[in-house]
Amino acid sequence: MLSTTSRPYIDASVPILRMHGLAITKVFYKALFEEHPELHHVFNAGNQANGSQQQSLASAVFAYAANIDNQAALAPVISRIAHKHASLGITAEHYPIVGRHLLASIKEVLGDSATAPLIDAWAEAYGLLAQILIEEEAKLYKASCIKPGDLLNMQVVAVEKQNTEVASFVLVPINAEVPHFKPGQYISVAVRLPNGLRQLRQYSLSDAPNSEYLRISVKREVARAKTPAGMVSNWLHENLTVGSVIAVSKPFGEFTPDTESNDPIVLLSAGVGITPMISVLNRIAQVSLQRHVIFAHAARNANLHPHRSDMEKALAGMPNLKNITFYEDDSADTDATTLAGRMQVNKLPLWDMNKAKVYMCGPLPFMQTQWHDLLASGVPIKHLHREVFGPDMLDHLERGDETKVKLCE
Ligand SMILES: Cc1cc2nc3c(=O)[nH]c(=O)nc-3n(C[C@H](O)[C@H](O)[C@H](O)COP(=O)(O)OP(=O)(O)OC[C@H]3O[C@@H](n4cnc5c(N)ncnc54)[C@H](O)[C@@H]3O)c2cc1C
Ligand code: HEM
Repeated sequence: MLSTTSRPYIDASVPILRMHGLAITKVFYKALFEEHPELHHVFNAGNQANGSQQQSLASAVFAYAANIDNQAALAPVISRIAHKHASLGITAEHYPIVGRHLLASIKEVLGDSATAPLIDAWAEAYGLLAQILIEEEAKLYKASCIKPGDLLNMQVVAVEKQNTEVASFVLVPINAEVPHFKPGQYISVAVRLPNGLRQLRQYSLSDAPNSEYLRISVKREVARAKTPAGMVSNWLHENLTVGSVIAVSKPFGEFTPDTESNDPIVLLSAGVGITPMISVLNRIAQVSLQRHVIFAHAARNANLHPHRSDMEKALAGMPNLKNITFYEDDSADTDATTLAGRMQVNKLPLWDMNKAKVYMCGPLPFMQTQWHDLLASGVPIKHLHREVFGPDMLDHLERGDETKVKLCE
C-alpha cells in the first residue's frame, strides 16, 4: 500500500504529469534507448513511430500508480500487462532500469517543481507497481515452464490465403510439443528485419487448441497516404513460406472467452478481429456442438471476409449457431443473415442477456460503438469483454472507480 506520506504527492501530481506526458515520454525513451540500445529489440518500433503519447509506458505508469490502492480496478489491467510483458520476455532486471529513467525524465521535464518528496513518492509508487508486475510475470513464466525471453522455433507447414489482406500460417514446433493455450490467447512472433532490428508482434491463435499445430492469421498492414507499411505483418507475408522457421513465444493473454460451459455466448468481431473468435468457435465445436452461439462479423465486403471456410464447417455441425455478417460496402441486404452496412446490435438475433457473455474484438471505433449500444440495450456490463489489438486504453482508470468500465468515453 502506498504510504500516507506519498499519497498526497501522487494525487496532486498525476494531472500535471499527464499534462506533460508527451514531453516526459520523449525524454524517457530517448534516454532509455541511449543507455540500453538493446531494448530497441524489445519495444515495438511501430508504436514508437506512430507514438500516441496516450499509449506510452510512461503514461501507463502514471495512470496505474495513481490507482495503486484500487485493487478492483487495477487487477484486470495488471493481468493484461503481465501477459503482454511475459510474451515479450520482460525480466525483473528491466524494472529498475525503466524506473530510473522514468524518474529522471520527470525531474528533467518538471524542473524545480519536481521536489525531493515528490520524486520519493513516485519512486515508492513505481516500486510497488513494479513489484506487483514482477510477481505476476514470474507466475506466468513458471506456469509456461520457460525462462523470460525463451522462444520456440516453429516450422511453417502451410500458408493459407484467406483473402488479399489476410494469410493464415500453420506452425509446428521443432522437436517440442505443441503448447497448450486457451482460445483468445496470442503468441508473440519474433522477426529480424533487414535493418537488423528484431521485432516482436502479437498474433491471436486462430484455431482451436490441438496437439498438432498452432495457427495464426495475419493481416498485411499496407502503406496508406499518411502511414508507412507495417513492418512485421508485411515481412511475414513476404518471407514465410512452407518450410520457413520462425521463433515465437509461448501463448499468453487474459482474453479467454468461456468455451467450456453450456451458457449461450455472443461473439462479435470486425476485420482481422475475427481471429480469436474463430479459435473460440472451433473450440466450442469440439466440446459442445449444441451450444447456442451468436457469431456476428463485420467486413468491408465478402472478398475481405476471412475464415469463411471455418464458419461453413461450424454451421454444418452446430444447429444452434447463428451467424450474421455485415458488409459495409453493400447497399442492400443479401439475405436474412448477410446484411448491408456496419454492424448494428439491434439487427442481431435476440439472446438471454442475463446469461450470455458477449466478447468482441475489432478496431477501437467498432468496439466503442458496440460497447455503447450493448449497454444501452440492457446487456449487464459484467457480461461485456473485449480484446484490443494494440496497447490498451489507459484513461479508464480514475481514482475511486471500482471497475474498469470506461472503455467508451
Ligand atoms: C493481443 C493482440 C493480438 C493481435 N492479433 C492479431 C491477429 O490475430 N492478426 C493480425 O493481423 N494482427 C493482430 N494483432 C496486431 C499485430 O500485433 C500487429 O500490431 C500488426 O500486425 C501490425 O504490425 P506491423 O509490424 O505490420 O505494423 P507496425 O510497423 O507496427 O505499424 C503499426 C501501425 O503504425 C503505423 N506507423 C508506423 N510508423 C508510423 C509513422 N512513422 N507515422 C505514423 N504511423 C506509423 C503503420 O502504418 C501501421 O498502421 C494483434 C495485436 C495484439 C496486441
Ligand atoms: C511499472 C512498470 C510498468 C508498467 C506500468 C507498464 C505498463 C505497460 C502497458 C500498459 C503496456 C501496454 C499493454 C497493452 O495493453 O497491450 C506495456 C507494454 C509494454 N511494456 Fe511495459 N510497463 C512497465 C514496465 C516495463 C518494463 C520494465 C519494460 C521493459 C523494458 C516494459 C516493456 C514493455 C514493452 C516492450 C511493451 C509492449 C509495447 C511496446 O513495445 O510498445 N514495460 N507496458
